[in-house]
Amino acid sequence: MKILAIETSCDETAIAIAEFGGSKKKPVIKILSNVISSQIKVHEKFGGVVPNLAKREHQKNLPLILLRALKESRFSISKQTPASQIQKIEKILEREPELLKRFKKSILPLKPPPIDAIAVTYGPGLAPALWVGVNFAKALAYIWNKPLIPTNHMAGHLYSAILQKDGIESIKFPALALLVSGGHTELVLTKGHGKYKVVGETLDDAAGEAFDKVARMLGLKYPGGPEISRLAKKGDPKRYKLPSPMIGSKDYNFSFSGLKTAVLYFVRDHKNFSKVNLAASFQKAVVDVLVSKTIRAAKQYKVKTILLGGGVAANKLLREKLVEKIIKELPKTGYKLSMLNMTGDNALMIAVAAYFAGNKKALDQVGAKANLCL
Ligand code: KG4
Ligand code: ZN
Repeated sequence: MKILAIETSCDETAIAIAEFGGSKKKPVIKILSNVISSQIKVHEKFGGVVPNLAKREHQKNLPLILLRALKESRFSISKQTPASQIQKIEKILEREPELLKRFKKSILPLKPPPIDAIAVTYGPGLAPALWVGVNFAKALAYIWNKPLIPTNHMAGHLYSAILQKDGIESIKFPALALLVSGGHTELVLTKGHGKYKVVGETLDDAAGEAFDKVARMLGLKYPGGPEISRLAKKGDPKRYKLPSPMIGSKDYNFSFSGLKTAVLYFVRDHKNFSKVNLAASFQKAVVDVLVSKTIRAAKQYKVKTILLGGGVAANKLLREKLVEKIIKELPKTGYKLSMLNMTGDNALMIAVAAYFAGNKKALDQVGAKANLCL
């Protein structure tokens, strides 16, 4: 089964094509293409992602990225006389006029590629950004007459963890996923493909958001996560005492706004402090609470696998501490950490999630859902 997947929930425009075979217990994947175009340069100067700029960029990028993905997949890109589908396409893309223009010119004349389904992220994410991807996917599904699989972005981050160096791996259930991104921090208990239960989540800021905000306080550029971890490498995490919020609470929820405020006051009250030590202390406070709750939840739910995914899963300390604790306290539990090139937003993870856990939906039933939950 060949799936073409589209991801536009935030500031990456991404399209991937993957071919799946084997069984779900012994899956095989052939990655035909995996194209990601980052908009960081566009948003950087605003210190965060600006939804309407993201929408504009996705409209410009999608047709180009699609052509690149088709080329990378070595599909022959031949043309045919477009059938008279213009009116329906105009309706589907009525709120994306720039995309419509480009779609008519470069996509409509293409012969349908040999794919079996189109997957698209329909939430959670920034509504204007999500809609571009969703409407583009609907237009493609319509002209190529392919089924559409609306896919949850967080399911994508969860499934990103099974893509490993030697291909795709199966999951031993029950599994617990720690999903940490710019918008979300969740502990998800998974009893089978597509069967999710969020057992813990952030009550305020997401982990990545806390990294981004603290980075801004320290005068670092966006996105802040990689910047903080770069500084933290040179710092002493024990030099400054910061709270690890809710580390002692019995539930599996998180809260990072108190920690963020603690950093804010620290910066305000200390004229001469060491940025590297503060970055290291902050990073340690976040990682300690993430790891501690993940291990505790894994014990309670007696899971067989621990998964780590999302942008913050790129954090080296988090990866190291999580593995260290699993080996020490849960030596029989398997673990899979999203590979570094799979932690950030991409469409390959959406293809994988769609293959294992997706359901086909009729075109007119598919729309973006900014606050979609797992
Ligand atoms: O999953 P993602 O690419 O986008 C969302 O779906 O939100 O996550 C982006 C987040 C940003 O907040 C970024 O600062 C954070 O992931 N991030 C990191 C690191 N690399 C990216 N946070 C901590 N350490 C990192 N090395
Ligand atoms: Zn994401």
